Amino acid sequence: MRFGHFDDSKREYVITQPDTPLPWINYLGCEAYFGIISNTAGGYSFYRDARLRRLTRYRYNNAPFDVGGRYLYLRDNDSGEFWSPSWQPTRTKLDKYECRHGMGYTTIGSSYGKIEAQTIYFVPLGETLEIWKFQVTNRRKQAARLSIFSSIEFCLWDAQDDATNFQRNFSTGQVEIVDEVIYHKTEYRERRNHFAWFACSEKLAGFDTQRDTFLGAYRSWDNPAAVERGKSFNSVAHGWAPHGSHHVKVNLKPGETREIIFVLGYHENPVDQKFDPPDSQTINKRTVKPVIAKYLDGKNVTAAFEGLRRYWDGLLGVYQVDSPDLHANRMVNIWNAYQCMATFNLSRSASFYESGIGRGLGFRDSNQDLLGFVHMVPSRARERILDIAATQLAGGGAFHQYQPLTKRGNNDIGSGFNDDPHWLTLGVATYIKETGDWSILDEPVQFENEPGSEQPLYEHLRRSFNYTLERIGPHGLPLIGRADWNDCLNLNCFSDTPGQSFQTTTNKDGRVAESVFIAGLFVLAGKELAAIAKKRGLNKEAERCLAEAAKMEKVVYRHGWDGAWFVRAYDDFGKPIGSKVCKEGKIFTESQGMCIMAGIGLKDGKAKRALASVNKHLATKHGIVLQQPAFSKYYIHMGEISSYPPGYKENAGIFCHYNPWIIISETMVGNGNRAFDYYTRINPSARENIGDRHRCEPYVFAQMIAGKDAPTHGEAKNSWLTGTAAWTYFTATQWILGIRTEFDGLRVDPVIPAKWKGFTVTRRFRGNTYVIEVRNPKGKQRGVKKLLVNGREIAGNVLPVRPPQSKPIPVEAVLEG
Ligand code: GLC
Ligand code: GLC
Repeated sequence: MRFGHFDDSKREYVITQPDTPLPWINYLGCEAYFGIISNTAGGYSFYRDARLRRLTRYRYNNAPFDVGGRYLYLRDNDSGEFWSPSWQPTRTKLDKYECRHGMGYTTIGSSYGKIEAQTIYFVPLGETLEIWKFQVTNRRKQAARLSIFSSIEFCLWDAQDDATNFQRNFSTGQVEIVDEVIYHKTEYRERRNHFAWFACSEKLAGFDTQRDTFLGAYRSWDNPAAVERGKSFNSVAHGWAPHGSHHVKVNLKPGETREIIFVLGYHENPVDQKFDPPDSQTINKRTVKPVIAKYLDGKNVTAAFEGLRRYWDGLLGVYQVDSPDLHANRMVNIWNAYQCMATFNLSRSASFYESGIGRGLGFRDSNQDLLGFVHMVPSRARERILDIAATQLAGGGAFHQYQPLTKRGNNDIGSGFNDDPHWLTLGVATYIKETGDWSILDEPVQFENEPGSEQPLYEHLRRSFNYTLERIGPHGLPLIGRADWNDCLNLNCFSDTPGQSFQTTTNKDGRVAESVFIAGLFVLAGKELAAIAKKRGLNKEAERCLAEAAKMEKVVYRHGWDGAWFVRAYDDFGKPIGSKVCKEGKIFTESQGMCIMAGIGLKDGKAKRALASVNKHLATKHGIVLQQPAFSKYYIHMGEISSYPPGYKENAGIFCHYNPWIIISETMVGNGNRAFDYYTRINPSARENIGDRHRCEPYVFAQMIAGKDAPTHGEAKNSWLTGTAAWTYFTATQWILGIRTEFDGLRVDPVIPAKWKGFTVTRRFRGNTYVIEVRNPKGKQRGVKKLLVNGREIAGNVLPVRPPQSKPIPVEAVLEG
């Protein structure tokens, strides 16, 4: 069953009924100002940091799921009837409803009683504000006398404090109302130099800024007192809950349309120019006023919207494919790339499953997010790499997370996740392969944000590598620490106390439990580091990396191979996890993918053997589960993984993030049919028809799909902010379609389904645009032996870097097997 459809030509997903199984959201903003918006206008906004600079309030885990948002009410002033043109919060049965989520904007249109309404929500590039462009049309035969009420609830900035510290917060709220603008200035009188503003393009019939006056006692968003009676109270918030509501009256002749613009913004003043006059407590509005005036003008709004479209044309234009598979095309060309922008910006902080108050940017997560983002805005990727690296500890370890506003590591989580450092190496390698910008390695970067501790970025990578060498366990494998990629494999935790964090509780000295996964990651990162060192002329360094990687490979063969697959880890008792000798958790996916991606087992058939085991034991029609058999009870020596009921999350759920590792591995052994089949199983577009089972958005990947041990097998959760976004994008573009960035050029090495007759990719790379046509006349799955560039044959299958030219460069490749 479907709840809408794709409109690929417009790059939109069209939702045709408001009561989707779960709120289906989109993101507004892609630079500094962000908003989450659901298909019924729910959600909230923030500046940079979802926790510390929350502009509007939102209550998570509400019932209904999605209440609180950017609401407009329409009221027929003759009948007194009122409704929400976005369905929520009044949930009036609309005659027509359509939500279109697009690239950085959302449009919600509806019709009720022959009054049509449409709102476009978006954030102009370069601005810290969001526009709601509202249009209302009278399709009746008679004139319509209407009221429009806007409504947002201001958050008192720190979303965590806002949701808990009422004894203080009920007394701090302050606003100013000047002309058509409501200014929210709680705490501006003391240490803040920022405020929010909410403006309207029309002359106001009234306003409200005190939530409980607007709503009325014991009422809710579905019948605010002001809307019901058709007249604002002109309330001025002092303490309690500052709110923003404009009241506009419009009389429309039959067929007449009116446009009203609402703008919600964030603004900062210089600390010494906060007030005007200086000795007053009144906000200095001199710098914000021109911004407000600009965006209350419809012409500028239209221009800004066009600017946003062109921006996305540019970003998505870096890689476009025309393949026989509609779902792959759609994800690669539009939605998967778009999702990568969201994960790059927000890491795992703010979605409808991440509350925005807990998690900053993850060291491992943000490095992986680069894989799907670096080609779009390399300069921002560079900046991100340097920020992340500056949180690294001098010993090579890493703060597991950092707050984007302060750019400092989070002490409450600390470090000790022993996979973390290697993701930096992979992130940097990805960046250089895309850009050829070797200079990043010479950038001086602090350790632990300590001034004076600067070392070239390259030195950070060396320490990352050494970090593992200094933490080797009894079998010669890397010690796991608090956890590796799998946050829930907590082998040193041994927690029996309810509520303790599995990731930060450590009851063991950590000198026994080892990770085969980190061993694979170490080999993979080691090979990248060797290539980088060699480029820098550091041949000894390069040799050392390769020698250590080779040594680790041997250890993996000796202690990490179980006979038909790779072992996952060794526990604190020195016993294997993910082995045939285990009763539960005999085989895990992550170590298969990571070891094979590192090249382990490719030559002697072990890789193929392991992949056959994955296919036999772990693959389901909805994707590949994390391990089997699922843990049926809590095992104190394994930690959080066994805390989940079987089939969910890390306990044998289909954790989509590592599915691409298996897909890449399949391409590495040349199995294009199976690689693509696995890709399609988790591709949300390909799952659109089972929307009632999948339940999450069909246009973005979800973190998890319930595994075969769960009663809800096939149900997705935690959509949007997941490492799946970057990895699926990277996998589809670089390994299946096989247009792969390398240090010295662009490799053309597709591994595709035999039944594909070919495909075309347009790829911008280091200043040139290549139009690559791959043909597959013999029905092969891989095997490009030579390339025709500009009609002339070159040896091998790597397009060398060449001086930028203005015309696209035609490339032809034929699969010969
Ligand atoms: C979550 C975390 C990620 C971790 C994964 C597996 O997605 O954000 O860091 O690797 O879970 O536990
Ligand atoms: C929980 C989740 C895991 C996530 C972690 C982050 O353990 O199961 O997916 O990575 O929390 O702290």
